[in-house]
Amino acid sequence: MKIAILKESKAGEKRVAITPAVAQQFIKQGYTCMIEQDAGYASNFSDKTYEQAGCSIESDKHTLLKDADIIMKVNAPTEQEMMSMKNGSVLISFLYHLHHSELIAKLAQQGISSFSMDAIPRISRAQSMDALSSQSNLAGYKTVIIGANALGKIFPLMMTAAGTITPSRVLIYGAGVAGLQAVATAKRLGAIVEVTDVRPETKEQVESLGGKFIEVKGAEAAKVEGGYAKEVSADYLQKQKEAVDKSLFQADLVITTALVMGKKAPTLITAEQVSKMKLGSVIVDMAVEQGGNCELSELDKAVVKHGVTIIGQSNLPSTLPQNASELYAKNIQNLMTHLATKDGFKWEMEEEITKGTLITHQGKIVHPSLNQTA
Ligand code: NAI
Repeated sequence: MKIAILKESKAGEKRVAITPAVAQQFIKQGYTCMIEQDAGYASNFSDKTYEQAGCSIESDKHTLLKDADIIMKVNAPTEQEMMSMKNGSVLISFLYHLHHSELIAKLAQQGISSFSMDAIPRISRAQSMDALSSQSNLAGYKTVIIGANALGKIFPLMMTAAGTITPSRVLIYGAGVAGLQAVATAKRLGAIVEVTDVRPETKEQVESLGGKFIEVKGAEAAKVEGGYAKEVSADYLQKQKEAVDKSLFQADLVITTALVMGKKAPTLITAEQVSKMKLGSVIVDMAVEQGGNCELSELDKAVVKHGVTIIGQSNLPSTLPQNASELYAKNIQNLMTHLATKDGFKWEMEEEITKGTLITHQGKIVHPSLNQTA
């Protein structure tokens, strides 16, 4: 089977779906790998390294696509890309199918079998394929670096001849994959770290990394489904606000990572709360693409409100394109090992990982969450 690796066309995207090392392994297994010219350049993988791995380089996207049996991408394809894909080909990329019904309908119409990398089930045997986790982990690291850079002070306690510098205080909303990596990174830099999350089981995880978990007393904890927190009540959010406000008003850096599956991100910091924060403090809102956890954050902007810098940068994994591509490529490789051999896909339609990730197949929308036919 012929694999095509495309150069990402989304503005600002620096990642590539497959690295030379992973391409080499596909080739060893008997696949043919073709890559669009300069596809890996922005993530520090030159065409030469792909050639050395055994890939062929193609400058024309259309030629590449019309020949391919399997197309591997980071972001969903553009309409033009889709039109060049042949009937019966297989696409593997992030699709966010719940939010992009038009795209999904077109994929079905084109006869493309599509697997979505953001739909990997959260089960132990699928962990090595979990692209949301691999990318969130890096994003969590980067939020701390961005925040530290925007702060007018250092993180660690420092005793100098000229006096003692007290450590910075970091407050993190959401202790999922990104939040926990942010805890670990901020601790390594020497900050005092506090964390809030609606899932009580995160307390132990936060504490094992040296963070302090802020408990919300007298409120019912969030329900969890498939690893994702469900929406909590207004009463919970009010009690959470009361429990966390003291830490928020003392914090130097606030990182927000709170997400609720399929919903707008919960508003956890209002404009009024920002007005009570310390002058010069910084908020990095990682949930900005899902509507933001801070009322004042703006997509892809750093704004200063009430003396607080609020950073709403999107697509953080793309700011670490080399590592992000390495992990994403491994996620795809592990998924492929599960789904196919060089001779073809197994199409085990009732198997949990196939069922969870296959969105369109044989002209139909097949994902259970979409529950309709094209
Ligand atoms: P996520 O990105 O959906 O959400 C981030 C965090 O925000 C979650 O911890 C959530 O509880 C929290 N949150 C939601 N509403 C909040 C609020 N109002 N205030 C404070 N926090 C709030 O979650 P993520 O990081 O993708 O994963 C969550 C968990 O799923 C992981 O910690 C892990 O336990 C599990 N998981 C399991 C996997 C597997 O078994 N294969 C793979 C990935 C995750």
